[in-house]
Amino acid sequence: MILVTGATGKVGGSALTSLLDKGVAVRALVRDPRLAALPSGVDVVPGDLADPASLGPALDGVDSVFLVWPTIAADHAAPAVIAQIAQRARRVVYLSANGVSSAATEGILGSHAMIERLISDADIEWTFLRPTGFAANTLGWAAGIRADGVVRWFHPAARRSLIHEQDIAAVAALALTSDRLLGQRPVLTGPAAISQLEQAHAIGQAIGRPVRFEELHADAVRRELFPGLPTPVVDGLLAAHAAFVTRPELVTDTVAHLVGRSARTFAEWATDHASDFR
Ligand SMILES: NC(=O)c1ccc[n+]([C@@H]2O[C@H](COP(=O)([O-])OP(=O)(O)OC[C@H]3O[C@@H](n4cnc5c(N)ncnc54)[C@H](OP(=O)(O)O)[C@@H]3O)[C@@H](O)[C@H]2O)c1
Repeated sequence: MILVTGATGKVGGSALTSLLDKGVAVRALVRDPRLAALPSGVDVVPGDLADPASLGPALDGVDSVFLVWPTIAADHAAPAVIAQIAQRARRVVYLSANGVSSAATEGILGSHAMIERLISDADIEWTFLRPTGFAANTLGWAAGIRADGVVRWFHPAARRSLIHEQDIAAVAALALTSDRLLGQRPVLTGPAAISQLEQAHAIGQAIGRPVRFEELHADAVRRELFPGLPTPVVDGLLAAHAAFVTRPELVTDTVAHLVGRSARTFAEWATDHASDFR
């Protein structure tokens, strides 16, 4: 039995489907089963990663765990959760992120570094998946595209190697059902680094309506897009995207190498998600 966390989300949901397609017995950990619309054949068990005491039933008889961590929100519970998983399961495949290193101590990368450390210090087989940005992050543009066909965002020329959640899920399924990725930290990316302007146009192609990119500059980004975020966090985001203008995000062929077909393009992702933008 494989336990999938984050099963109502993008990567966990896709991992569930990939594992079901392989005929593997899967269980989904969900906080509220009444809200979870999951495929038939999935054993749905309630539990909360922020509350280690709630996880007993979900870990009963589990061989492996696909762990999607509620980054930062559940960090206080991480040592107890990882200890329980290591005690009850043989293997964990952890959804980490590109850029994680032992030097990362703060923010999202710091949270992933901490979980990786807890897992590698525990007595359990592991694989850490380190994807770049998710193509699904562009769902943040959906309201604007639906309303008036405009993406109001920053650094249109920033080139990112966004990855389809199904490709992360395909590698997760491989890591959970074979020994090929034991003790590895594969960096997973889309097949090419394309600009944010090209991403907006690809969404336009997918929905059959033009999408225009309206560039916002730093002050407007802080004020209009992220009013609730601390200035250093927004400035970090702006700086990272500014860097992707001159130096596009890295592209690896790891997905193709592991799953035996090319990683899905952003255009394919946009077609798969066209209904979200219409
Ligand atoms: N976005 C990126 O570009 C990117 C890149 C690299 C890595 N990542 C990492 O990917 C992960 C997010 O994956 P995703 O985008 O697939 O997730 P998502 O679609 O945002 O869904 C989040 C999932 O986590 C579950 N969840 C939230 N809090 C929980 C808790 N306390 N206990 C149990 N389950 C909980 C949610 O379940 P409910 O139904 O209960 O809400 C939902 O299934 C994060 O760790 C993030 O750092 C993201």
